[in-house]
Amino acid sequence: MTRSANLREETPEDHSAIGGLLVAAFDRYGEAELVEALRKEGDLVFGGVAAIDGDIIGYVALSRMRAPFPALGLGPIAVAARHRQKGVASTLLHWSLAHVQKDQWPAIFVLGDGAFYGRFGFRPELAAGFGTPYAGPHFMALALNGELPAKEGQVDYAPAFDQL
Ligand SMILES: CC(C)(COP(=O)(O)OP(=O)(O)OC[C@H]1O[C@@H](n2cnc3c(N)ncnc32)[C@H](O)[C@@H]1OP(=O)(O)O)[C@@H](O)C(=O)NCCC(=O)NCCS
Repeated sequence: MTRSANLREETPEDHSAIGGLLVAAFDRYGEAELVEALRKEGDLVFGGVAAIDGDIIGYVALSRMRAPFPALGLGPIAVAARHRQKGVASTLLHWSLAHVQKDQWPAIFVLGDGAFYGRFGFRPELAAGFGTPYAGPHFMALALNGELPAKEGQVDYAPAFDQL
């Protein structure tokens, strides 16, 4: 990982820098606005930050899902362009998952690249039984405490995602 990056939970003082990072990483405003809406609507459960010398270079959001059991949705995740391919996202993700596991969240869902998220234990077969607008091979689940509390039901991201 990039030398001396510090991992921590976001604070209100970080919001502006996180927004800037997300706009730059995605080259649009949608993800920054999404995270703002998640905060405002009380659905952002955990915002993990990687910082070097006070500059935020990585961010991951975990938000409350609509699901039959407590479940978090992962994303967006972003790393500043000049710090990519050095393990920042992976390290921040491992640390963030360990943090929410301690808080007794049994399940995390993600829509994304299987090769990347598979490294953290996300599996499409674990998510396959759930009804969701995101169904397909890129929709994956991670069981943080051994197995999911249920294998089927309706799951969806927080309402703020509907605007993305
Ligand atoms: C995806 C992203 C967060 C990875 O950050 P990173 O710090 O470079 O990641 P790491 O160094 O820990 O791991 C690198 C891995 O990221 C994965 N990766 C890179 N770009 C990716 C992308 N656009 N989508 C999915 N995975 C990607 C690759 O699997 C890569 O693996 P490799 O080492 O075999 O090439 C970063 O490229 C980024 O901010 N991209 C723009 C925003 C984005 O697309 N976010 C993901 C969708 S929410």
